[in-house]
Amino acid sequence: MYQAPRGTADILPAEQAYRRYIEQKASLICGLYGYERIDTPTFENTKLFTRSIGDGTDIVEKEMYSFQDKGGNDITLRPEGTASVCRAYIEHGMANLPQPVKLFYLTSIYRYERPQAGRLREFHQFGYEAIGDADPVIDAEVIEMAWRFYESLGLKKLSLIVNSIGCSECRPNYLQKLRDYYDNCGEQLCKDCQTRRERNTLRLLDCKQPGCQKLIDNAPKSADYLCDSCAEHFNLLKKYLDDIGLPYSISHRLVRGLDYYTRTVFEIQPETEGAQNTLGGGGRYDNLIAELGGKPTAAIGFAAGIERIILNLKREDVQIPVISKPAVFLANMGENAKLAAVKLASDLRHAGIGIIQSTGTKSLKAQLRQANNLNMRFAIIIGDEEVASQTVVLKDMAAAGQENLSWDCLIPKLKEILTAST
Ligand code: HAM
Repeated sequence: MYQAPRGTADILPAEQAYRRYIEQKASLICGLYGYERIDTPTFENTKLFTRSIGDGTDIVEKEMYSFQDKGGNDITLRPEGTASVCRAYIEHGMANLPQPVKLFYLTSIYRYERPQAGRLREFHQFGYEAIGDADPVIDAEVIEMAWRFYESLGLKKLSLIVNSIGCSECRPNYLQKLRDYYDNCGEQLCKDCQTRRERNTLRLLDCKQPGCQKLIDNAPKSADYLCDSCAEHFNLLKKYLDDIGLPYSISHRLVRGLDYYTRTVFEIQPETEGAQNTLGGGGRYDNLIAELGGKPTAAIGFAAGIERIILNLKREDVQIPVISKPAVFLANMGENAKLAAVKLASDLRHAGIGIIQSTGTKSLKAQLRQANNLNMRFAIIIGDEEVASQTVVLKDMAAAGQENLSWDCLIPKLKEILTAST
């Protein structure tokens, strides 16, 4: 028996209602804030990701699905969406468009992680990027949009965490302070943190090991070491967020797992699990476009994990709209009736009425049992007698009653009762 590869999942019909709900809310919010959709290829040249996400990150070191294609090109399945959008921004000369260029995506992402609830190897993100604007007003807008998106989904038990990790001017000084601090912690550090200390210093603040928690609490805070312009940016952002009335908190532990971030970083976390199962995160990446060969261009974005949203919708028992299915079953008895039913089913569907058509040579009783099992609201029954008189029997499956209708009246009648009940 074949099984789906570890860390992947078939998205069965029962789950599709959640996806459609989330995608509809995402498109709606993008319309409100002026984002247009972009789709980029599932795979890119590996260098695009190593360059942007950073060599020392978990994603690049351990999680990328990289391979050589038959032409010897180094290829990687996208482990996130931002780098591809920036590549497209540069490749298509979007710097010549009015700035910021606002783009969103709904896409599959690939990371070779240890699978567990809410952590997959193939998962999906709704993400958006505002490229070409350095004003902290955009930071506030991007953060607000993320919050409003989760709000529109009906999720309530969430927290919004914000931080500033500075820029290439002030961060080296901060990182040195952090290294100096950790140099004195020696053996108290977990094994992973011992290696992080040199290779990926900021991630020391993100460690989940209980032994490292107290050290993190007392560690120097990036917000205390910002240069003047980063400090002003952060102060303005906080003011805007206060004015909008978003319930955010500041945490010096928030550093994010990708190297391209500058200044503002933020995450939305479930109240109960915190960062372990972050629902979405983002931040500024003012150096990335230049790093990838474009002109220096400020930018900021965000991405939400769809599977984690679904977990939280279920946990919070949010009722989502069901996807409508056909409500009418078409049963037939006799050779002529079967022929007429094929044409009738086609006419009804053409008129916008969903039909499940009976096939084979089952008895009427078996056909109605099938209609019942499928939860059909109505059954249309057509026998040779009805063909002769150009009528059908319309049976309400929940009530005892049934009525005879001429073929001419069937479509208007069904439309009337089906619209009245939606
Ligand atoms: P990220 O934090 O790596 O950011 O991923 C964003 C979200 O994707 C996470 O908060 C989480 O909900 C979801 N996610 C991550 N890994 C998994 C996984 N293995 N299984 C299921 N869901 C997962 C980025 O990807 C950045 N590109 C976001 C961004 C956009 N920053 C600026 N613009």
